[in-house]
Amino acid sequence: MSRVVLAYSGGLDTSVAIPWLKEQGHEVVAVAVDVGQPGELSSAIDRAYELGAIEARLVDARTDYVERFVWPALKMNALYQGLYPLVSALSRPLIAEVLVDVARETGADAVAHGCTGKGNDQVRFEVSLGALAPDLRVMAPVRDWDMTRGDTISYAVERNLPITTTKKSPYSIDENLWGRSIECGVLEDPWASCPEDAYALTVSPADAAPSQDLEVTFDKGVPVAVNGEYLDPINLIEAVGKIAGSCGFGRIDMVEDRVVGFKSREVYEAPAALTLIKAHADLESLTLDGRFLRQKRHLDSQWADLAYEGLWFSPLRDAIEAFAGTTSDHVTGDVRVRVGSGGAAIIGRRSPNALYDEAAATYESDDGFDQSASPGFMSLWGLPAKRWSTVHRTP
Ligand code: ARG
Repeated sequence: MSRVVLAYSGGLDTSVAIPWLKEQGHEVVAVAVDVGQPGELSSAIDRAYELGAIEARLVDARTDYVERFVWPALKMNALYQGLYPLVSALSRPLIAEVLVDVARETGADAVAHGCTGKGNDQVRFEVSLGALAPDLRVMAPVRDWDMTRGDTISYAVERNLPITTTKKSPYSIDENLWGRSIECGVLEDPWASCPEDAYALTVSPADAAPSQDLEVTFDKGVPVAVNGEYLDPINLIEAVGKIAGSCGFGRIDMVEDRVVGFKSREVYEAPAALTLIKAHADLESLTLDGRFLRQKRHLDSQWADLAYEGLWFSPLRDAIEAFAGTTSDHVTGDVRVRVGSGGAAIIGRRSPNALYDEAAATYESDDGFDQSASPGFMSLWGLPAKRWSTVHRTP
């Protein structure tokens, strides 16, 4: 008999997956990984036993998630296609790690996830699992069982399974500390605007609280305080998200290119992620060398692609982080962000490591910049242009 460790969310699909895998002759160890999603995971654990799991575990991975996945993403200002802060993409490699750990501890020979065959998440799970534990067999019951949502509900009702969520949600939601992904239903028409009932973390800009100023303090590339109050990472992300979301900032509505080849319309809410990325990138502009920064912006986008495409465990990601890491220690200071009216604007920044030099930049009398050096500079800087034009200009 084989033993399978299942990534279990407590939702309909992974709940039904427990008896389904059992019927296929497997023992099921259900693992719920807490990455900051809402809801009562402990009652989901009780239900997993009722559904037939031989063991069910709740793993609180929130701190690990922030320190090893979210903060690296923030340091790389990670936005896939310039917009999506990788909410779902970042949690998958961590969940894969937990599955492998539990498989090792429980002597399982297989792991299972609840992804369909159309999304990116199956890619992220399976590529990560292949890199971490190539000996483990990977099963994808939801991809294999060929049931519609209605069929899945009937399956549960016929077997009298203790499933509470039989009411059809119009959307497919995935949520963690870094934000919330919303797909399916009316959103499949990219022309249709997203109904207000899809949102949970952000208020409509039309009904939002008046704009607010936030002061975010960074230490070595990561945020440590908000408005002067030092907070642990989880509380800090929640605090920033709450303020920005209540001021109507943090919604993303986009057409995205999936790894599996087709375009999909996606809606996200990520008030904390968008605010912090904006503030972090601004502090980089104050504290890092301009040429380095131009290079880093290319690498930022390449890093986001790797994380999106399921290549978390890749030598290129390690190498990019090593390059960026040479300077993130300097990204220390405070950024003032005004959130409101659907937007966020940086309105001030300061740092003990600021490369900005007021004495050089000022147009006032206490000028520390030697303007007499400029003509000589320009005669050399412009020499190639002058020579080119002398040789090629038609008289
Ligand atoms: N398109 C997003 C991504 O690939 C969101 C995936 C959300 N997953 C879900 N089960 N709703 O990262």
